[in-house]
Order: sequence, then C-alpha cells, then structure tokens
Amino acid sequence: MAPPSVIAIDGPAAAGKSALAERLARALGYVFFDSGALYRAVTWAAHQHGVDPRDEAGLANLARRLDIRIEPSDGSGRHAYRVLVDGRDVTASLFQPEIDARVSVVSAHPRLRQVLLPLQRQIAARGGVVMAGRDIGTVVLPDAPLKLFVRAGAATRAGRRYEQLRRRGVDADLATVLAEMERRDRLDSGRAVAPLAIAPDAVVIDSDQLSLDEELALALRLVRQRDP
Ligand code: CDP
Repeated sequence: MAPPSVIAIDGPAAAGKSALAERLARALGYVFFDSGALYRAVTWAAHQHGVDPRDEAGLANLARRLDIRIEPSDGSGRHAYRVLVDGRDVTASLFQPEIDARVSVVSAHPRLRQVLLPLQRQIAARGGVVMAGRDIGTVVLPDAPLKLFVRAGAATRAGRRYEQLRRRGVDADLATVLAEMERRDRLDSGRAVAPLAIAPDAVVIDSDQLSLDEELALALRLVRQRDP
C-alpha cells in the first residue's frame, strides 16, 4: 500500500489546520494547499471590483474570470504560500480583518462554491497534496484516504489567532478576535451547502493540549497506519 496521496484536513477557524497541514506536507514532501486562501482571494477581488458579498451571481461570474494561483513561497515571508490574483501577489491582503469579516458570507453561496470545486479537485488529482479547509473531507475529496478534523476550544483558538495577527502586524484585541471568530464559525457551520462538518471517517484531533510537534507526530502515525 502507498502512503495516502491526498490528506484532507478540516476544522473551524484558527484550529491550527494550516500549521499542521504545512508541517505534514513538508515532512512527506507533499504540496500544502489551503482552500481558505481561495475563498479569501475571491473575497478580496470582490471587494476590489465592488461586487457585494451577497451577490451570488456576481461572485460566481467574478470567480470564473479570475486567474487565482496558489504557489509555494520562497520561505522569506510570513506565509507558506503566495496567492496571485491575475498575476498580482495579494497574499498579505488576504488575512486582514476586512477579509475575515466578509469571507464567510461570500463562501456560503452554492454557485460560487461550484465554480471553485473543480479547481480544488484538479489540484488533488496531481497527488502528493495536503489540503486544508472546511469541506475537504466531506465534499471536495470524499474519497480521500486520510481525513483529519482539527478542533480546539474557542478560547485557545482566539488566543492563537490573536498572536498570529499581532505577529503579522495587524492591530487586534482579543475580545474582538474571539467574537469575530465565533461569528464566522456560526456562518460556516450553519450554511446550507458544504457546512463545516466532521466526515464520518475523519480522525478528530483535539489540539488544545497538544503542541504542534505532538500533532505532527500523531498525524504521521496515522499516515504510517495507512501505509504499513
Ligand atoms: O485560517 P482560518 O481557519 O481562520 O480560515 P480559512 O481556512 O482561511 O478560511 C476562511 C473562510 O473561508 C472560512 O471561514 C470559510 O468561510 C471559507 N472556507 C470555506 O467555506 N471552505 C473551505 N474549504 C475553506 C474555507
């Protein structure tokens, strides 16, 4: 048996999916693909083009026209990847509070998700991919041979996001970060299409009490179990 060619990692905001996915990908020599960056890129472009976050048809049309590329970064920046929208590097703009405030409304639209679905599947089809998001194990890659669902309590997650924002030089206060994160989780979990949910065959990792090294060790054990 070969190691799983794609690994799906889902979970709520700031649960540590990206940190785990990035390390796991590095350990396995895989590519890390953050589907959240896709939704963030569309949200950014909508803002630039004056498309309302509630305008489903407008967003779907815009997404169809955009050339969104997610490439590994050269390691010098704060992100493991760079996001290019129509050739312009917009990575730093995608993690600003204005995008956080809009992205869950944008990504709830079924027609927009439909446009972004084949893109994600094409990337997975190349193999050697760790893909992180909300609906990777349930909708995008229901046949993924290994699915992880990373979660942590709201206080832990808000604390992590707060530290991350401060490191990135974004002005933030903890109570606002917590409220905003919980609002986004409610929207992501409550939407009709592809809500945040644990796939029946996913392994749940409760990351409150785990260091990143422990999480990585656990994930690598699960990979090995599927590749005896
Ligand atoms: O980093 P964080 O966990 O805060 O969020 P993210 O993974 O960058 O995702 C940002 C937003 O994109 C989420 O809150 C969802 O609204 C949306 N998203 C989605 O709908 N489906 C995905 N597979 C990934 C992200």
